[in-house]
Amino acid sequence: MSIQYHEQSRVFSLETAHSLYQIKADATGVLLHLYYGKKTEQDMSYRLFLTDRGFSGNPYEQRLNRGYSLDTLPQEYAGSGVGDYRLPAVQTVSENGSRSVDLRFVDYQVEKGRQPLNGLPFVRESADTETLKITLRDSVIGLDVELLYHVFPALDVIVRSARLINTGKQALTIEKAASACLDFLYGDYDVLHFHGRHCMERIPERLRLPRGVAAFGSRRGMSSHHSNPFVVLCDRNATENAGDCYGCMLMYSGNHLEEMEVDQTGSTRLVVGIHPDGFSWTLNPGEAFETPEALLSFSGSGLNGLSHQYHDLIRRQVIAPRWQNVQRPVLINSWEAAYFDFDAEKILRFAHSAKDLGIEMLVLDDGWFGNRNDDNRGLGDWAVNEKKLGCTMKALSDQIHEMGLQFGLWFEPEMISEDSDLFRTHPDWALTDPDRKPMLARNQMVLNMSRQDVVDYLFESMCAVLDSAKIEYIKWDFNRSVANCYSKALPASRQGEVAHRFMLGTYQLLEKLLKHYPDLMIEGCSGGGGRFDAGMLFYCPQIWCSDDTDAIERLEIQCGTSYGYPVSAMGAHVSAVPNHQTGRVTPFGTRGVVAQSGTFGYELNPEKLSDEEKEQIRVQVSDYHRYADLIAHGTYYRLTELNVEKDFSAWMFVSPDQKEALVNLVMTHVRANSPVPFVRLQGLLASGRYCLEGTEAVFSGAALMYGGFVFKHVHGDYAAVQAHFVLDR
Ligand code: DGJ
Repeated sequence: MSIQYHEQSRVFSLETAHSLYQIKADATGVLLHLYYGKKTEQDMSYRLFLTDRGFSGNPYEQRLNRGYSLDTLPQEYAGSGVGDYRLPAVQTVSENGSRSVDLRFVDYQVEKGRQPLNGLPFVRESADTETLKITLRDSVIGLDVELLYHVFPALDVIVRSARLINTGKQALTIEKAASACLDFLYGDYDVLHFHGRHCMERIPERLRLPRGVAAFGSRRGMSSHHSNPFVVLCDRNATENAGDCYGCMLMYSGNHLEEMEVDQTGSTRLVVGIHPDGFSWTLNPGEAFETPEALLSFSGSGLNGLSHQYHDLIRRQVIAPRWQNVQRPVLINSWEAAYFDFDAEKILRFAHSAKDLGIEMLVLDDGWFGNRNDDNRGLGDWAVNEKKLGCTMKALSDQIHEMGLQFGLWFEPEMISEDSDLFRTHPDWALTDPDRKPMLARNQMVLNMSRQDVVDYLFESMCAVLDSAKIEYIKWDFNRSVANCYSKALPASRQGEVAHRFMLGTYQLLEKLLKHYPDLMIEGCSGGGGRFDAGMLFYCPQIWCSDDTDAIERLEIQCGTSYGYPVSAMGAHVSAVPNHQTGRVTPFGTRGVVAQSGTFGYELNPEKLSDEEKEQIRVQVSDYHRYADLIAHGTYYRLTELNVEKDFSAWMFVSPDQKEALVNLVMTHVRANSPVPFVRLQGLLASGRYCLEGTEAVFSGAALMYGGFVFKHVHGDYAAVQAHFVLDR
């Protein structure tokens, strides 16, 4: 049993392979957070210290016990307005205007397995999953909060969410409903968060938590390029390979907020959930509201260890089983090869050249539908532009399949252009404020996905295309941030629900399509990696990592992404040089090595390749197949520490049985007479003997891990080297 309840002390212990999470319902009925960290075999309530602190008041029941304050006790799900002045987890407004929420323990339930969430992505249950449900109640306002904990023991993960139920007779307005609230009574922490911008997503930044509040999040109607819904709190001295680290990843693709507060006593609170700005949700009597899930994981062995836990979680319990063990096809995408300038003849020529190089799928990107010959028009009109193509989609797809390639197609379902038949017919389907011109981006508006008729239209029009031809894959794009988040289909009082209902509509559409086409592979995309989150990964086994295809920039982007997400989810392609985003010229081999640590494909015009480049592609494709399992299912290690100045970037994969390892190194700055690139390998069998492929050299695992490996002959700008080690005995 991973969930234990001690009747007398009212302590709940949630145990995973290497962690303990403890909660206590105290005598006042307040649910306290006792501990999260390495296993201790102990009731951790001895750490509580009740002392009178000025200006930290006492609940009425404890008015004579001045040491007892909600303001200083570690809370499991903090209420608001009743004496805990730190960040609340939940805020509501009652019909009489009261904003107070004061929750007390009512009861609990433990069960095997888990129930799915309603309309939201969720972590799929494993054989050992157990669920704890704790019910808290504020009987004054008529609010029950069910705290859900799904424990994944083998994965060292605890998944939290909250269900708010109106048990009263009057409507409540929810203004904030966090997915998780986590109090760290003691300790000094750094926070690692992942910021960015279009073409440079998920850049890790490690900061010392200040006193007071620090917060990251997105109000863009999408998880965003700018701030990923994932944070790590770690010991100040934690490194890639040592130290305590706590991860919290929100499984959600819309507005999100990660808040941290270090309070007067030095304790730290982390609150994560839907961004409360602009959010309000009317909860009528009898209704329930479910938050997205927050995926918590603790590692006592540094950031690499924490990443391994998230990689395993996503690969096994988030990605759909259909795709977990399938080698992803090497694809060629038409975007950087042709942009909007193509017809079927050109695409077929691409397909022909691609087939000759060993590529397995051709993806036709933007521009095949409506009057979409540039990015100013046509979104929403999902009808094949046969005039432009010169044939039907079926004819194109058939010819591509006859060549032995699979076929994929681009969609941007949640968008609408002003210049489109859809907008001319249904102007009220766009998200727009009354009496106000919409904010445009890429000259497009956002569809109101909170409307069922919009979701139904998209389902039908996408099905019509998917039924008309054999299409194995779609690329699901989303090319702007949301604004004017107003639905003409909802009353004024419910406009605060639109952003979340938008996400529910998008998830519903994805769900419906996948139910209808269980073999359809959807690659997520949002101007590259603007919606790279666990929510989208529930539906899409891979996500285009960034619109920046420059191999050197990709090192940073893919490395930053790797803190939370596995490489098997990262869309990465070899593109042409000079690179279209940066103008940088990198060796073809380096572009291959970098893209290989992803889902692998090409984003270039195959007709413009030299014979030498064509030969390199053949080798890259065969290397991809040789290493695909090791890369997709192996253990990934970052070998270069964050914030340590280096002239190279290095990372490696070790097979689950430790019999094989692939080390990658890319020079990011070449200097004359410079120190030799040197890395300590990780994850090998210390007593194993590893042969370096292509040489006579044999090393012990211990030598490679403790004495390190020296890359002696790396020469030239942005050179890349791979070292493949195979266990001898
Ligand atoms: C943004 C994507 O990230 C690109 O790869 C491409 O699909 C364009 N959109 C098409 O408009």
